[in-house]
Amino acid sequence: MTINKSAETAQAEALGHVTFLDGQGELPMIEISTPWSTAEIYLHGAQVTRFKKNEEPPLLFLSQCSRFLEGQPIRGGVPVIFPWFGPREGLGQHGFARIKDWDLKAIVAAPDGSVSVRFRLPDYSEASAFPPFTAEYLVTVNQALTLQLITTNQSQDAEFTFENCLHTYFDVGDVTAIAISGLKGVSYLDKTASYLEKTETSNAIRIASEVDHTYQNTTGTVEILDPRLGRKIRVEKQNSASTVVWNPWIAKSRQMSDFGDEEYERMICVESGNVGCNSISLPPGGSSTLMVKLSSETMK
Ligand code: BG6
Repeated sequence: MTINKSAETAQAEALGHVTFLDGQGELPMIEISTPWSTAEIYLHGAQVTRFKKNEEPPLLFLSQCSRFLEGQPIRGGVPVIFPWFGPREGLGQHGFARIKDWDLKAIVAAPDGSVSVRFRLPDYSEASAFPPFTAEYLVTVNQALTLQLITTNQSQDAEFTFENCLHTYFDVGDVTAIAISGLKGVSYLDKTASYLEKTETSNAIRIASEVDHTYQNTTGTVEILDPRLGRKIRVEKQNSASTVVWNPWIAKSRQMSDFGDEEYERMICVESGNVGCNSISLPPGGSSTLMVKLSSETMK
């Protein structure tokens, strides 16, 4: 694949902040370097697969068994789920944005040291089932990783209804030792119990079995306390009313061919978006930006 580089992109490359590489499966990948951190992003799915602050272990989990193949999702990092979440009759799970190559529009190295990468989803035939729309994705790397998915309804007369989700896989020392806070009192659908509606009772959620919860009508920050890695992760979001918490645990891990049998011990997904009853309807010409900021601090 040839990457068309804008003048800003060429400048960021010349300054040594950006390197274009063949990643796994020889898929094109962009390596970003800032004074505080490094990151890797594939054009396939516009998927961030790595973010690492200089003095910390990697923030994102990436499966050793992931596929890196055209038409297949990458297992780990931050898959961009759009324009639908979960299964859809006759169509693949979690939309097509995560299995398609995105166009690189620009990479900008800002004077403050941040590096931003802008992608755009090309017009794939799968989009013809929807009113015309554009989807752009802006990834900003600095002390934190900030992700913005910008969707615009380009139709003159039709409403565009969609779901989105930044399906973030976090690296943790031991999933049974973490505590997830910020969801107490929020109602959720429990997919492991036939989508039964429940209310979260804990402000320190523990993982001791398969978890697949879709929390609804919740816009708040979620934190993951990880005593084994000595780290606290913060998931801040804007224009997101849903949070999904997922860990496949033992049996599901064994069923997934692109995931190691024991890898569930080292990961947790805390996903931010708008799914199910929180799906978004944009009027003609309307636009909406899902923003997620992922940051972390070490605990002394
Ligand atoms: C989560 C869903 O968001 O993604 C789970 O809530 C699903 O039900 C998981 O199993 C992984 O999905 P996939 O398609 O990447 O295997």
